[in-house]
Amino acid sequence: MAVEQVFEVRVTTPDEWRIACDTMRAALLSGPVSDEVWAKSGAGWEDHLSYTAWAGDRCVGHAGAFRFDTVVPGGARVATAGVTRVGVLPTATRHGLLSRMMRDLLVAARAEGRVLASLRASEAVIYRRFGFGVAADSLSVRVDTRRARPVTGAAPGSVRVLQRSEILGVVPAIYDRVISRPGAVTRPAFLWERYLDDALTGDKAGNVVVHTSVDGVDDGFAHYTVAWHEEPFIDTYGVGEVHDVFGATPAVELALWEFLVGIDLIRHYDVEERPLDDPMRLAVRDRRACETRQRFDEQWLRLLDVESCLAARTYRPGPSVTIAVQDPWFEDNDDVFEVGSHGAARRGRSTPADLTVEIDVLSAAYLGTVSWSELAAVGRVAGDAEAVARADDLFASRPLAWCGSFF
Ligand SMILES: CC(C)(COP(=O)(O)OP(=O)(O)OC[C@H]1O[C@@H](n2cnc3c(N)ncnc32)[C@H](O)[C@@H]1OP(=O)(O)O)[C@@H](O)C(=O)NCCC(=O)NCCS
Repeated sequence: MAVEQVFEVRVTTPDEWRIACDTMRAALLSGPVSDEVWAKSGAGWEDHLSYTAWAGDRCVGHAGAFRFDTVVPGGARVATAGVTRVGVLPTATRHGLLSRMMRDLLVAARAEGRVLASLRASEAVIYRRFGFGVAADSLSVRVDTRRARPVTGAAPGSVRVLQRSEILGVVPAIYDRVISRPGAVTRPAFLWERYLDDALTGDKAGNVVVHTSVDGVDDGFAHYTVAWHEEPFIDTYGVGEVHDVFGATPAVELALWEFLVGIDLIRHYDVEERPLDDPMRLAVRDRRACETRQRFDEQWLRLLDVESCLAARTYRPGPSVTIAVQDPWFEDNDDVFEVGSHGAARRGRSTPADLTVEIDVLSAAYLGTVSWSELAAVGRVAGDAEAVARADDLFASRPLAWCGSFF
């Protein structure tokens, strides 16, 4: 007869962080963390919500959340729980442990004022049940430098390569100043150290360049890595990876791209994450210079506080719409909200609703990139077509939502 296992779920104490880390890594098919990596990971565990599942004294699961802000349409930045480090050991899966940890995590995040949760999913079938919806996709792209040149629309100015010692003093401040695309997130210091590791340490060819406007203002940067392609000497060339291109305007980003595709020897760049409406796609000489390798669900969002999230973003002109939200986890989200061109407000359950949705659907539509009509077409929105069209008009937002920060 099978023995019923008893599991405990609780906040992880600091002395348990490393075993929690190893548990999560094992679930994600990696070995235990090395001393060297762990020494660099400390800050990423300190400013972090962390819940673990235990079978007696064995740690069998972990779920955590970083603290940062997400840009929403109109430019406001809302406090976000960046759900991360999720894993349950194979000996303990399908006992409801992720469900318990996720609930505790989201309740704690909301209690400290985080109005939104955001995550990147290993599998697309896990998170909808917890109220997450895909709010934006991202593209993996290969850029053929020779076919891309010349790039049109680049902002005037100059580009300089940063020395290692300058990078952390310069780049985070530029990034914080220039991010405006809905879905972008602020990056805590420990994430910068992780993202820029190849440019900051060791002998890898990681580089950071900064664009400066004609007025002398640093208004964008790019982070990229280059390497020789292993081929016979007769056909030598370089390849690169572009990790970040962020500018105050599309023209600044194009100036950075103009610099990148002009570097001698580099035949192509692989770029893991770019927005669907990346200006580079229209700025290249040959449209096929930017080859889409993959389109994937980047940004899973869950509104933790519907009233605050709806009030934080702006809407386009148009007649208002009332939306009934169903949220089994947070009672005060389970209400009717009115959204109009001047903002959003709670109206109370007795108010007739034009549209009725579950929380994952509202979360998917929130940034104005996934349309209400797309969601209605697959049966996820209850309401008539005219009200769906009104919601489309109010919520739509350009540029499209995109984050570009994997966590
Ligand atoms: C994803 C993972 C954390 C789920 O943990 P878990 O404790 O087994 O999840 P739960 O028992 O709480 O599952 C809740 C529900 O989700 C379903 N579910 C969970 N993981 C699933 C998966 N990978 N595929 C399909 N369904 C899944 C369960 O069947 C259950 O469904 P039910 O409510 O209808 O019974 C675990 O499978 C895991 O560690 N996977 C490998 C690492 C990983 O992918 N981590 C996520 C990183 S983003």
